[in-house]
Amino acid sequence: MEAFLSEFGNLLLRWLHVIAAIAWIGESIYFVMLDNSLRPPRNPIQSKAGVSGEMWAVHGGGFYHNQKYLVSPPDLPEDLHWSFWKAYSTWLSGFALFAIMYLLKPTFYLVNPSSPWAWAATMSGVQASALAVAFLVAGWVVYDQLCRRISPNMKHDGRLSLAVGIMMVLVSWLSMQMFQGRAAFLLTGAVMATAMSANVFFWIIPGQRRMVKAMKAGVAPNPLDGKRGKQRSVHNTYFTLPVVLLMLSNHYSFTYTSPYAWQIMSLFIFSGALIRQYFVLRHSGKNQLGYPVAGVILLAIAAWLMAPTTTPSSTPVPVVDSGKDTETSVLGIVTARCVQCHSEKPTLGGFAAAPAGVHLESLGDIQRHADQIKQTVASRYMPLGNMTSMTDAERAAIAAWDGS
Ligand code: HEC
Repeated sequence: MEAFLSEFGNLLLRWLHVIAAIAWIGESIYFVMLDNSLRPPRNPIQSKAGVSGEMWAVHGGGFYHNQKYLVSPPDLPEDLHWSFWKAYSTWLSGFALFAIMYLLKPTFYLVNPSSPWAWAATMSGVQASALAVAFLVAGWVVYDQLCRRISPNMKHDGRLSLAVGIMMVLVSWLSMQMFQGRAAFLLTGAVMATAMSANVFFWIIPGQRRMVKAMKAGVAPNPLDGKRGKQRSVHNTYFTLPVVLLMLSNHYSFTYTSPYAWQIMSLFIFSGALIRQYFVLRHSGKNQLGYPVAGVILLAIAAWLMAPTTTPSSTPVPVVDSGKDTETSVLGIVTARCVQCHSEKPTLGGFAAAPAGVHLESLGDIQRHADQIKQTVASRYMPLGNMTSMTDAERAAIAAWDGS
């Protein structure tokens, strides 16, 4: 019952997280589109009133007329619309989801017993959870310091983007060394997502509050507040697509069990940013196909790196007598190392049902999942965290099995 409740909670949190993220990213995409679609006002009176651009739109049976003021508008209404709860609730629900899955079961999901670093391979669950949280905090601190030091006055934003790109390659590499692959994809995405939310919390919103306060007091707002908000918001724009791709990839084991996992993460990040750039430019009327083409090339390289080395057949092969011996021994191994989790009523790990819907209880089951079994065992993704102490000889036996 407890396992069921925690999984049901997981479902509800995931729902909240996805909805909040859709609202936030949707708004972010909308405002970039709005900003880049602004045209000089048609009515000269409005130019004189300080309007620098306008956009007319039709939506849901109504006509909308957005206007952007270059500096402060003559008078600011009390009911100004602010956007921040979408960002905060996305982060909070994401962190809660991460906590109930990973932080509560760190030995299953975080500790990587085959880490090349002995201290990481032998971390306790509590240490791994603490390290994962520290990783997120450190990610923000380093990113924020890069922004402050490299481009404090927004004069070296190009150099800053390069530094942030290099930082993300390092984050990808480091997370793969210290944690299980699935957690590494999630954490790398979460480092970017944390930077995005923290940009809103620590820089964009406080800067806007100072600007509004200055305008209300009748003094000129500090232009740096506006420029800095813009700088961080531009970073957020390019983070959105990579973050979503990384969050989704941790549901596909071929991504994080690849021997090139950190390179794949890096390719995903740059590809997402390039594809986003295409849409940013498109809103201002430029159709530069080079960007998405480059993004797709990076995805193709990732696909090539991830592709399985053996060609698995997806149709279940009928049992043949000659294969019977290996088959029985494979079933024996699976019964010893996998059914604790992959059965109707798992006895290990507090699962309410067979994880990923994969049952491994009978000969028919293992034939049906032969390709997946061979792939997840060869990549050492299964048994999860090697909780059931599978030996290398057993892995070799499964590798030698022709899956029929
Ligand atoms: C400690 C519990 C546990 C053990 C033991 C375990 N698994 Fe899993 N397995 C899981 C969980 C949890 C998932 C779902 C992970 C996910 O969503 O990526 C999973 C998923 C899978 C999948 C689906 C992967 C995919 O990409 O969809 C396969 C196949 C699998 N396991 C095979 C095995 C085999 C074979 C063994 C034994 C050698 C094994 N597992 C042992 C917990 C376990």
